[in-house]
Amino acid sequence: MKVLIVYYSMYGHIHRLAEAVAEGVKEVQGVEVEMRRIPETLTAEILQKMGAREAQKTFAHVPICQVDDLASANAIIFGTPTRFGNMCGQMRQFLDATGQLWAKGALVGKVGSVFTSSATQHGGQESTILSFHITLLHHGMIVVGLPYSFQDQMRIDEITGGSPYGASTIAGSKGERMPSGNELAAARFQGKHVATIASKLAK
Ligand SMILES: Cc1cc2nc3c(=O)[nH]c(=O)nc-3n(C[C@H](O)[C@H](O)[C@H](O)COP(=O)(O)O)c2cc1C
Repeated sequence: MKVLIVYYSMYGHIHRLAEAVAEGVKEVQGVEVEMRRIPETLTAEILQKMGAREAQKTFAHVPICQVDDLASANAIIFGTPTRFGNMCGQMRQFLDATGQLWAKGALVGKVGSVFTSSATQHGGQESTILSFHITLLHHGMIVVGLPYSFQDQMRIDEITGGSPYGASTIAGSKGERMPSGNELAAARFQGKHVATIASKLAK
């Protein structure tokens, strides 16, 4: 039983959420978790201009994802920052290289789930996750979100990410806000929830 967490992060917010998702997966007995990064498509010069080089060093140890890694997992949890209310281009390019898997039906019946990050509270977290689901459905995956049994997605005493579609964080316009305790709890819940469902399906 393996759950794969596949993500792209430019400034570290998605990376932090991915770590919390992994913690949640590990709470389920008999489930192994692996983390993979989506290959970069931008040049070092552009990343430098975008101020991303330093942050990226902190997760450079995470292996780069190969397309075939997806086929080896029982469940895949994808993390992407929002780009204009959509997944990032790096993730899109990676997914567009999965045609061979699609042709073989290699992901049919696997569990798929998505988490995200955006600069602003209403900057497109839900559209990013929901539009990502379309690709998962084309692959025949079973889409899983963040159920309301994670009740703290309903809290209004503080600004928080998280919706029935998946965990999320609000990074701030300068990336100055890292995931809050509540957002990390949502990510852990999502990881555990996906791993639990995948275990039941494997039986
Ligand atoms: C080209 C581009 C487009 C973006 N579009 C949005 C957007 O539509 N809404 C939003 O709130 N943030 C937007 N952002 C901010 C990113 O979502 C934010 O930097 C990211 O969530 C931080 O996560 P990371 O540290 O894991 O990269 C955009 C950033 C870039 C570079």
